[in-house]
Amino acid sequence: MSLPAAIPMPPAADDPAPRRSDFAADFLWGCATSSYQIEGAGAVDGRVESIWDRFAATPGRIRDGSSGAVACDHYHRWPQDLDLGRDMGLNAYRFSIAWPRIFAGVGARPNEKGLDFYSRLVDGMLERGLQPWATLYHWDLPQYLQDRGGWNERATVDAFVELADAVTRRLGDRVKHWITHNEPWCTAIIGNYEGWHAPGLTDLKTALQVCHHVLLSHGRAVPVIRANVPDAQVGLALSLHPLRAASERPEDHAAMQRHDGLRYRWFLDPLYGRGYPQATWDLVGHSAPHVEAGDLEAIAAPTDFLGVNYYFPEVVADDPAHQPFRTRVLAPTSGEITAMGWPVEPRGLAELLERVHRDYAPGPMYVTENGSSYEDTVAPDGAVHDAARKRYLQRHLAALRAAAAAGVPLKGYFAWSLLDNFEWAEGYQRRFGLVHIDYATQERRLKDSGRWYGAFLHGD
Ligand code: FCB
Repeated sequence: MSLPAAIPMPPAADDPAPRRSDFAADFLWGCATSSYQIEGAGAVDGRVESIWDRFAATPGRIRDGSSGAVACDHYHRWPQDLDLGRDMGLNAYRFSIAWPRIFAGVGARPNEKGLDFYSRLVDGMLERGLQPWATLYHWDLPQYLQDRGGWNERATVDAFVELADAVTRRLGDRVKHWITHNEPWCTAIIGNYEGWHAPGLTDLKTALQVCHHVLLSHGRAVPVIRANVPDAQVGLALSLHPLRAASERPEDHAAMQRHDGLRYRWFLDPLYGRGYPQATWDLVGHSAPHVEAGDLEAIAAPTDFLGVNYYFPEVVADDPAHQPFRTRVLAPTSGEITAMGWPVEPRGLAELLERVHRDYAPGPMYVTENGSSYEDTVAPDGAVHDAARKRYLQRHLAALRAAAAAGVPLKGYFAWSLLDNFEWAEGYQRRFGLVHIDYATQERRLKDSGRWYGAFLHGD
């Protein structure tokens, strides 16, 4: 297992601007979104409450006190949104299925109206030349399942497999690309240990059990999806960061290794048949998950691709106050940062992709999310001159080209995100879209970054 050097790397010299022809002709160029962040229509056509509705309704949880109840009203305005994607020149679109639209309760039959919505959406993509990439779980668990313990309960694995079955039966004639889970780290650790995402718990044992069940549900869903969609391509999307030690001190280097055990290997090792990493298992002690016979084999179900979501590298320091990991991820103190406080480091993308390819050889890889948040404003000329986001996108595509040249089997890139949207605990104050949303009027406006992506895609 190779780890980056302890000393942060110097910034790379600027690469020449990327051109579409630098990439394979069949490379996929998309944008990504997720159901809760854009759809709105919270109580329409039989949709029930999700853990994010409940979380957002809890005072103090969302920075601006908002929720996804209306969001971008994509549930009603999706034809216009897909038009924007088509006009930009995308050939793929990543979206997610809202579980609360599909099953209204335990033992309920699938909600036809919910399935119909996604069926229309998929038809809309195909009509516009957008290859549909469906994510089955992008964090909006039905609240009725959380009331029974959520992902901490093994029964939720069965419920997820039922969801996968119902959705792939209905859409599998047209949707061939399936992502079971988006970012199990966030579901498990941010939602149940760090607590700043729904359901807002702060218990390590719960978080690791949740993690195990999420991974298990992925592995158990894979054969079900394959049975329903014989020509399916199935994978999942992980959020990963290249790691840097805060200093050359051996303590910080060891902290980085411990963080790596949880942040990277805890997910990738079991997915690629190596079980949970022993050092991390020993470190978490009694918080280790309950694992039943056959679980690890199920989690390691062969997949067709790996999705990697990349935003920034993490700098890790030794912190004895934070047990059991004794690690702390430091906020950047210098260099270029986005409105999220995330450092901009395009080379980290190439470094990360190369490492995953070297360590696990997962086969075809896709960047399933990558993007940046800036404080956009509508200029007097009516445009959104988001030069920093455009530059971010250009530099990350240059890094993608470098990774492909280094031999990573890269097959596609999805910018996060098509639209400004509900950015979880940050509410609407953080904009990631290539398209600006005026939340008062729901007016859509292609930003300069989106114009650049379109010119790149329409160019040579
Ligand atoms: C990722 C999430 C996505 C979005 C971006 C900014 O972790 O998958 O929904 O919030 O971050």
